[in-house]
Amino acid sequence: MKKILVTGGTGYIGSHTVVELQQAGYEVVIVDDLSNSSTDVLDGITRITGERPIFEKLDCVDLEALKGVFEKHQFDGIIHFAASKAVGESVQKPLLYYRNNLVSLINLLELMPTHGVKGIVFSSSCTVYGEPNVNPIDESAPIKPAESPYGNTKQINEEIIQDFVHSGAPIKSIILRYFNPIGAHPSAEIGELPIGVPQNLVPYITQTAIGIREQLSVFGDDYNTPDGSCIRDFINVVDLAKAHVVAIDRMLTDKSDEAIEIFNLGTGVGLSVLELIKVFEKVSGKPLNYKIVGRREGDIEQIWAQPDKANKVLGWKAEATVEETMASAWKWQQRLKEKGIM
Ligand code: UD1
Repeated sequence: MKKILVTGGTGYIGSHTVVELQQAGYEVVIVDDLSNSSTDVLDGITRITGERPIFEKLDCVDLEALKGVFEKHQFDGIIHFAASKAVGESVQKPLLYYRNNLVSLINLLELMPTHGVKGIVFSSSCTVYGEPNVNPIDESAPIKPAESPYGNTKQINEEIIQDFVHSGAPIKSIILRYFNPIGAHPSAEIGELPIGVPQNLVPYITQTAIGIREQLSVFGDDYNTPDGSCIRDFINVVDLAKAHVVAIDRMLTDKSDEAIEIFNLGTGVGLSVLELIKVFEKVSGKPLNYKIVGRREGDIEQIWAQPDKANKVLGWKAEATVEETMASAWKWQQRLKEKGIM
């Protein structure tokens, strides 16, 4: 059985990926410092797959601790999710973001060759494209100056991987640029669990609908889009998780001669914030209390993916409908309430 290290494996996208990896026959070791998640997630994963992933609580910034994990386990590959990801917070605490996000990756890369680990999948973001000149956007589009320290860490990390591979390091990498992951596992055993007030749209919608938040603020209806609200490519988190399994398979079986490959992960369809709210109201049967307010600083007007490369080369395609995805997010929010977690 091939063994995969999943950093940030108790987080939102990480936990869904652990489930898909286990179901595809991989053994998983999770490393997470629990700074933005809890070990309850391990219980949720276990209830879905019947198999508890090995868990090591540590911060990837701690090289000595990480080395201990590499000495204990022989990994075939790594999927690196662990990172700080709040755009606004990154503006307030840039050094924290640079330290966490850059040093973690450097530590992993440093340990890979000496421990014979062949490949790393890196979680990047469509944020590297900035405001696109055209949509849908493909992987050859120019990288724009980052709007925040968070976005900059994604760009710099992509460059660090490229420089390391070009230096002749005996590793391969697949960089995945996510669009907007939303939804939860259909079992409602795992999902997105933001600590404090959600910054992202969908948890804010579901928390408003269930009564935790009074009202959703829609940031702007004066954009140059058909209904004036921003447009995004909302991708189901389980579909996104499945792409990681395909990427790991591809690297570990040397299906490609390229040492580095980059893929957009999106649906190829742009949906506006107001359209997404309508979908939520339809699947939940509840009207949502929202109001239009001013624009949020740093928001991109519209961006959606050209996912052809992932479709053709990886043989992966986003499958869930946005209705199914929003229904899964709602089911998850209701489950949290039943359990008294939120
Ligand atoms: C951004 C980044 C993404 C990053 C993510 C992490 C871009 C293009 N994307 O996603 O790379 O990984 O943050 O958090 O920079 N909205 C509201 N009301 C709310 C919340 C959101 O109207 O209460 C709107 C936003 O204005 C935006 C859309 O919903 O138009 C999506 O926002 P959000 O979920 O925060 O994701 P992004 O900002 O697109």
